[in-house]
Amino acid sequence: MQVIAPFLFLALCATIAICSENDGLERVRDTLKQLEVGEKLPRSIYKDTIAKLSNEKFCQACHEVVKAIIKQRKMGSSKDSMNDFLRKMCNLYTEYGTTACKGYTEINLDVILYIIDNKHDLTPERVCAIFHQAKKCVDPKAKKWIIDIPPASHNENSDEQNEVPIYKIWNVLQITDVHYDPLYKENTQSVCNKPLCCQDGTPTKPEEAAGKWGDYHVCDSPPRLFSSLYERVKSKHLDSLDAVYFTGDIISHKSWSTSKASNIADIKGFYKALYDTFKGKGVFPILGNHEGHPVDCLSPESVTDSNLSTKWLFEEAWNAWSKWLPGGAEKTVKHAGYYSVLVKPGFRIIGINSNFCFVHNLWLFYEDEDPYGQLAWLVQELLKAEKNHEKVHILSHVPSGHELCHLQWSKNYRMIVERFNDTIGAQFNGHTHIDEIEVFYPEGAETAVNVAFNGGSLTPFIGNNPNYKMYQIKLSDATVQDYQTYTFNMTEANKDSSPEWYELYSFKQAYGLQDLSKKSLTEFVQKLNEDKTLQQKYFEFTIRNSDMLVNAGCDDKCMKTLTCKVTAVEAGDALDKCYENL
Ligand SMILES: *[C@@H]1O[C@H](CO)[C@@H](O)[C@H](O)[C@H]1NC(C)=O
Ligand SMILES: *[C@@H]1O[C@H](CO)[C@@H](O)[C@H](O)[C@H]1NC(C)=O
Ligand SMILES: *[C@@H]1O[C@H](CO)[C@@H](O)[C@H](O)[C@H]1NC(C)=O
Ligand SMILES: [Zn+2]
Ligand SMILES: [Zn+2]
Repeated sequence: MQVIAPFLFLALCATIAICSENDGLERVRDTLKQLEVGEKLPRSIYKDTIAKLSNEKFCQACHEVVKAIIKQRKMGSSKDSMNDFLRKMCNLYTEYGTTACKGYTEINLDVILYIIDNKHDLTPERVCAIFHQAKKCVDPKAKKWIIDIPPASHNENSDEQNEVPIYKIWNVLQITDVHYDPLYKENTQSVCNKPLCCQDGTPTKPEEAAGKWGDYHVCDSPPRLFSSLYERVKSKHLDSLDAVYFTGDIISHKSWSTSKASNIADIKGFYKALYDTFKGKGVFPILGNHEGHPVDCLSPESVTDSNLSTKWLFEEAWNAWSKWLPGGAEKTVKHAGYYSVLVKPGFRIIGINSNFCFVHNLWLFYEDEDPYGQLAWLVQELLKAEKNHEKVHILSHVPSGHELCHLQWSKNYRMIVERFNDTIGAQFNGHTHIDEIEVFYPEGAETAVNVAFNGGSLTPFIGNNPNYKMYQIKLSDATVQDYQTYTFNMTEANKDSSPEWYELYSFKQAYGLQDLSKKSLTEFVQKLNEDKTLQQKYFEFTIRNSDMLVNAGCDDKCMKTLTCKVTAVEAGDALDKCYENL
């Protein structure tokens, strides 16, 4: 999950009871003028102005702010004065607070300046349409790039069906979005004016004291939560376990003070613990958007300056993953953090780096057309797999239907999955921290054609109970037979001082399905659309029955978005159909 990132803005109609939208846009314009001439500025205008703008006005405001940034630099502003300018903007137009704004600006400055200085056709429309695609900002010049996908050929080339050995059912553990916070401290302030709390400060109310095992407030995972998870899976599942899928996000949400060195230390530490816990088992990891420094940033292939390039991350990934992946994966992992490995005859795992689709990756302003040729590569891997009669699992951090997954990337990915629906047995996602499911059910198709399971999250960030999942996989066709989600009650654990992990539900049983075949998934989608009781159940499972979020509830609008997203597997579709107003 991602905190609303830099460049969101705010305004101040403090003296007027109700501000009209126009006043809001005017307010942004006024503050911009004040900024440019160096006048004393008001406090953050996020809550009372920016947050209230309609999408259209929001995009207009975004254009004007980005225009001012580009202009400032083009007029010859030095690195130091750009730092000052951007920090003031962050203070004014976001609600991150002064500490986080100072950090974010310093950390991201080199990337921002490189892009302005080197991307000669950079326009405010481009920046806003990418970064704020969820606000439906438009760039009339955006290129609608499409990857070449060869059609399925049914008759020719029907070589003998490969004999796939009969395997026993594979038991796979999925862990995702752990967001390890080494600075977490029990009893510090869980409510603070920074994008991540539970690290310092003395709480004024007892209910605002950081819990022992984690907290429903804006906090990540304390180290002892990891010990609890590892002990639990060791004692309960290790004997029957065949493999672990880790779907990304190791680093905490303290994105304003990351560094290469501290990210690397946390990444190494996490993988060492996985290795020690699951000795002898296969582990298949992928990168999350938080592994980068600056957060979300993955530089394009053409940027080779070692101070800006994110090559270090791919190298670090290979250092950690070579314990489990065959040598053949080295080249693509070091290239851009993705790989394809044949795990058993007839069964392949493809780990992709879908963080390239996450629109908070500032480098997308510089280059956004299939970064590193990853999707083109994916098509080739799937073609080979199809030809060899292999079945495939795809691990991908950001779900393709996520509202912040780059529109064109998402469209291409959806088309690839549809085309290779027979070859792909299932997909596994993370990132949203929600135990949710994406069903690929193309318009006009008789049944659903594919499915992506989201692993939820170990971190409670924000409001969830921690969880992990166990899947039973039929290796001969890579289909998921069933899965179970395990969690514990955070309120209870923090009261009684130890987590009581339990099985929250099994998918088949909870939704009364015979199996997870394409036919059954179709039945699931239909039931979910019609049955309000089932919707409530689905909602409670997504957040693992967390007291805080169950109590907050999911009203009609929230439920509509939640259930609509199940079949909105392309970002553009999700934005058009599932959100009334973002
Ligand atoms: C990279 O950063 C270091 C330290 O800030 C600096 O000394 C060096 O000149 C930079 N290298 C390039 C190629 O800009
Ligand atoms: C699913 O895969 C089959 C077999 O390759 C193909 O014929 C069919 O068109 C695919 N479905 C969609 C919706 O693309
Ligand atoms: C979690 O524990 C709290 C405290 O014991 C309890 O009040 C609450 O009902 C429990 N929640 C669930 C979903 O069981
Ligand atoms: Zn996450
Ligand atoms: Zn993420």
